[in-house]
This record gives sequence, structure tokens and C-alpha cells, in this order.
Amino acid sequence: SSPLRIALAGLGTVGTGVIQLIEENSALIARRAGRPIEIVAVTARDRSKNRGVDLSAYRWVDDMGELATASDIDVVVELVGGSDGPALTLARETLSNGRSFVTANKAMIAHHGAELAKLAESKNTALKFEAAVAGGIPVIQGLRDGAAANRIDRVYGILNGTCNFILSTMEKEGLDFTDVLSDAQAKGFAEADPSFDIDGIDAAHKLAILASLSFGSEIDFGGVEARGIRKILAADIAQAKALGYRIRLIGLAEIDGENGASEIFQRVQPCLVPLAHPLAHVTGATNAVVAEGNFSGRLLFQGAGAGDRPTASAVVADLVDIARKETGPAFSMPSSELEKLPRAASAHR
Ligand code: NDP
Ligand code: HSE
Repeated sequence: SSPLRIALAGLGTVGTGVIQLIEENSALIARRAGRPIEIVAVTARDRSKNRGVDLSAYRWVDDMGELATASDIDVVVELVGGSDGPALTLARETLSNGRSFVTANKAMIAHHGAELAKLAESKNTALKFEAAVAGGIPVIQGLRDGAAANRIDRVYGILNGTCNFILSTMEKEGLDFTDVLSDAQAKGFAEADPSFDIDGIDAAHKLAILASLSFGSEIDFGGVEARGIRKILAADIAQAKALGYRIRLIGLAEIDGENGASEIFQRVQPCLVPLAHPLAHVTGATNAVVAEGNFSGRLLFQGAGAGDRPTASAVVADLVDIARKETGPAFSMPSSELEKLPRAASAHR
């Protein structure tokens, strides 16, 4: 049957990972999706850059905007980054044009996910962002579909691979923060601006998305209080260990309240995690998300949270869903059903 024809905007860590995955697993993907997934067009800033992948079979497009309207493209995959700017313009134009849109861009979804989900629904097309949270872990699908029948009041975990890599390497090697950051960047884990990672903003983007999926609420990124790991020293880690703890950057969101009036609480901060807790044993760029469903019980999603191959796995899973026409609303319910929850005062915690 007819291939799903895709365009890739962004050919960095994740974009080149997607090309490698689609090329290496093409036969398996075609069998699972019911049809082949075919890359038609690609774009990035610098055409002459050597990316370690062969682009000669694909049409190079200088103007990213062309991807939104090209008649031979079914899905645009955005792997550029940035909450606004060219990524957002491309998302709006692609969805307005009735084409499906797949992205790994948590910053854009945290800021504009509600608007884009409404646009996708109005055009009866798909907006998908599995790779935006926790890299290769299928946590969006797990919460949106797998746990769809549950009431979830609490979701938390390790949501930033760079910070977890830095904290666990600092512990292992006795190094200070700045000695390890460049290593995380070299491995392709960090954001283009790594302050998003180390100041807790990237984890806050992801937490806001997970809270929306878990609670059926509108995304409220502005309501996340975020503190990062910049000030943590190797000595702090050693002292925590001596007392039976590990330091981890944890994002936690909860709803609670009395008489049916729920409030939402969302915070990212370094925490002392007791050695007996599973999150204390999550090392390297691994992420772990815990959600508590009223029928499923405690769910733990764990796996690689960053990097080219795991993130490509999540991007292409979205494409397989689209090829199978298993789409539905972007969040856990149609956007008109998402509740706007008041923020809980953090002083109460
Ligand atoms: P990179 O910086 O490695 O790649 C970004 C790509 O976008 C580059 O190819 C760059 O072009 C291109 N680009 C940037 N600005 C423009 C522009 N104005 N016009 C055209 N192309 C542009 O980023 P990543 O691959 O690491 O990340 C991509 C997205 O995936 C981000 O949203 C990130 O948050 C997200 N993500 C990343 C993960 C990771 O582990 N790295 C994991 C999960 C999500 P050029 O190469 O020519 O400079
Ligand atoms: N910079 C992000 C991280 C990439 O380190 O977790 C994955 O979203």
C-alpha cells in the first residue's frame, strides 16, 4: 500500500537518529505500520554540514515553510527546537494545511500544546510528541492510552537526562558540575542552550506535559516552580550519600483539594532520594516516571531519556501510529474537555 511520506526539519542529534532508524529498520517498520515510511524531503540550517548520514536520496529544501504545503508530504517531523520561532510557525502552517505533525519539542508543546492540539482537532489531523518527554520511553502513550481508564492524582520522576547524567557522574567520579556538563553536551543529551537542562526548565516543560496527560488538565507551564542543579557540589553529593541518600532532580505534580475543588501543584527541584527508593538507582541519562492510577496502581516507566537512538525510537513510533491511522486527540482527551485547574499555593507543601 501507499507509503507514508514524511519531511524532516532538523538534522541534528535526533534528526540524524531518525534517518538511521528508518533506513536500518525499514522492512520491520513497513510490516508493523502496514506500509512503508518514506523520507521525501529534509531541511536544516547548513546544507554543507557533514552529518554522518547520506542525504542524497532526499530532496533538500532551503525554506522550511515549503514543507507545510508540499503536495507530496503527509507528515512533517519537527526536530529543530525552540518554543517559538521557525518550529512554531512550521507547526501552525502544517496543521492548518491539514497535514500531520510530529515533534520532539517539549518547549513548544509546553507553551503552545493546547493551541496546536485544538488546531489539529479542527483539521482532523494528528499532532504527536512522544519524544518530547523522557526520550525513548513510551510514557505519553502509556499515560494517554494505557492508563486512560484511571484517575491519576500524582506523577513524578527524573525527567532530564543531562542532569541525571551530571549528578550520577559527579558522584561516581567525585567531579564538580562544570567538569561533567561538556561531556553531556558531547553525547548529544543537552539542549542547544544547556541552561534549560541545568536550571530545571527542560524538566519543567516535561512535567507540565505529564501533568496535563495525567490529570486531564490544560497545560500550565507557568505554574511549574523550577530549581536546577547549578549549585550542587561533589561535596553535597558525598554528604548526602553518607546519610543514605542520593541527590536527584525530581519533577512532581499532584492534584488535590477538598469538596471536589482540585488544585494543581507542580515543582522541579533537586531532592534527597533515600537509597531504598528506585529513583535513587536511576543513573546516567536514564529517566524514570512514576504515575499512580486508582485502578492500575503504581506505574513505573524507565529507560533512556535522551540521545539520538532512543529519541528516534519515540519519533518513529509516532509515525507508525499515524501510518496505522491510530491517532486520536493529542492529549488524554479532546482539548475542549481539558480542565483549567487553579494552582495550589506552594507554601502549603
Ligand atoms: P540539534 O541542535 O542537534 O539539532 C537541531 C537541528 O535543527 C540542526 O540540524 C539545525 O541545523 C536545525 N536548525 C536549527 N535552527 C534552524 C533554523 N532556524 N532553520 C532550519 N534548521 C534549523 O538538536 P537535537 O537534535 O538535540 O534536538 C532537536 C529537538 O529534539 C529539540 O526540540 C530537543 O529539545 C528535542 N529533543 C532532543 C533530545 C536529545 O537527546 N538530543 C531528546 C528529546 C527531545 P544545522 O545542523 O544545520 O545547524
Ligand atoms: N536535554 C534533554 C535531556 C533531552 O537531557 O533530558 C531529552 O529531552
